[in-house]
Amino acid sequence: MTDREAPDQRTELWGRRVQYESAGLDVGDVDLDPVAQWHQWHDDALGGGVAEPNAMTLATIGADGVPDARIVLVRTVDQFGVVFYTNYDGAKSRQLDAAPVASAVFSWLDLNRQVRLRAHVERVTDAESDAYFASRPRSSQLGAWASPQSNEIQDRSVLEERVIAFDERFADGEVPRPTYWGGWRLIPFEWEFWQGRPSRLHDRLHYRSSSAAAVHRMRSPVLRAEGRGCGHDESAGGRRRADRARGGRRISAS
Ligand SMILES: Cc1cc2nc3c(=O)[nH]c(=O)nc-3n(C[C@H](O)[C@H](O)[C@H](O)COP(=O)(O)O)c2cc1C
Repeated sequence: MTDREAPDQRTELWGRRVQYESAGLDVGDVDLDPVAQWHQWHDDALGGGVAEPNAMTLATIGADGVPDARIVLVRTVDQFGVVFYTNYDGAKSRQLDAAPVASAVFSWLDLNRQVRLRAHVERVTDAESDAYFASRPRSSQLGAWASPQSNEIQDRSVLEERVIAFDERFADGEVPRPTYWGGWRLIPFEWEFWQGRPSRLHDRLHYRSSSAAAVHRMRSPVLRAEGRGCGHDESAGGRRRADRARGGRRISAS
């Protein structure tokens, strides 16, 4: 159906507008370390009842040069990067092998927030993948064996039969990690924290760095329009917060 055939729906979307009444985001209010800042916002999202707060939309580069995006769940965010797990034979892994860069977005819409990042990407070590795989429920472990990711299957019954077959194969003990399943680490060189504010005067805080001691600066459209958007890397509040315990934490959600 074209736009011309659905005027009512289009008009409804044009008129839908929510006022964001959230508190502001200023360089003095945030942590100098984007990882610590991410954990602060992730905790807020968790506490605020946001569904799947560790979900991020991951964009990779397709073989045709066109971005390809999908949701994954991150399992670790620390000073070494942002880790998710997947099938190494799937489309996104093949794309990351060919072009080891990615962009990702965390959307915490209930809090009027998003976090964007751009990153270099690498596979995590086998030991890391083994440790995470061992922590998964047996049903998820069997799912990793059974699911031929990104390949077409005839119908769902094929998957279910494969789960039963692998369950029998590993009936006597632990389910080992398939060699084609493991983690990817995004190593961000850019982060942006976005806080929705009233009247579309949103706050954007930008970190550009390859190290934990991030340089950050405001990128509010308003501040920029007034010529006040400027580089900034040290504020009293920021320094205090930066002095607090840093470092990564595991995401506890399964
Ligand atoms: C909430 C949610 C969480 C997901 N988590 C993962 C994940 O952690 N790893 C993964 O490989 N796919 C995950 N998926 C499925 C992916 O979005 C995607 O469909 C699948 O990985 C195949 O992508 P690809 O063909 O581009 O490789 C998730 C989907 C949703 C909706």
